[in-house]
Amino acid sequence: MNTPLISPSLLSADFGNLNNEIEKVNKSSAEYIHLDIMDGVFVPNISFGFPIIQSVKAKSTKPLDVHLMIEQPERYFAQFQSAGADILTVQYEASTHLHRSLQSIHNLGMQAGVALNPHTPVSLLEHVIAEMDLLLIMSVNPGFGGQSFIEESYAKIEQAFELKQKKSAKTIISVDGGVTNKNASKLIKSGADMLVSGSYLFKANDFDQAVASLR
Ligand code: DX5
Ligand code: ZN
Repeated sequence: MNTPLISPSLLSADFGNLNNEIEKVNKSSAEYIHLDIMDGVFVPNISFGFPIIQSVKAKSTKPLDVHLMIEQPERYFAQFQSAGADILTVQYEASTHLHRSLQSIHNLGMQAGVALNPHTPVSLLEHVIAEMDLLLIMSVNPGFGGQSFIEESYAKIEQAFELKQKKSAKTIISVDGGVTNKNASKLIKSGADMLVSGSYLFKANDFDQAVASLR
């Protein structure tokens, strides 16, 4: 079985202790750090913006995997790049001109990802997957940490894997929402290359051991 990349989601971290929380990720074997940006319009929640991303960038030794849950994300691509994003992922449902958005993100020197809400079919990406560095399968409805994993996500990961093969794409297939040691191995078997996990990792007593338990 392949070893997945792990991207801990900072949404479930203690924001009063951000330095310590980032240090936990730095000291762990996780490959990335996942930042959830919510605008209160695309999703019914507001998280954090540029000053926090900049602070995380200054402390983090891991690349920033930035997940935008915002309307018209293209308004802010340059600012996310300046703040330190390494991977920038837009929601399919918030992107009218998705192909152009992928080009713009690449032109700014970042890797480009697309996230799919639970109801959005993988097949809609057929003509852009070759341009995508990352495909983020949302396995909960975006907006909050700590929700229950949606079982139908396994089938979507399998479809994403098939589409990737068919198009000879190098796209990383990532899964976000309700990921724990209980479902990780089945996710990897289904074709996931990367696991995003928030509450499971940040509520664990031993962060690095929890990261290892996902592999
Ligand atoms: C949800 C976010 C996730 C969230 C995952 O909208 O995109 O990244 O932090 O948290 P858990 O792992 O607790 O479901
Ligand atoms: Zn996320």
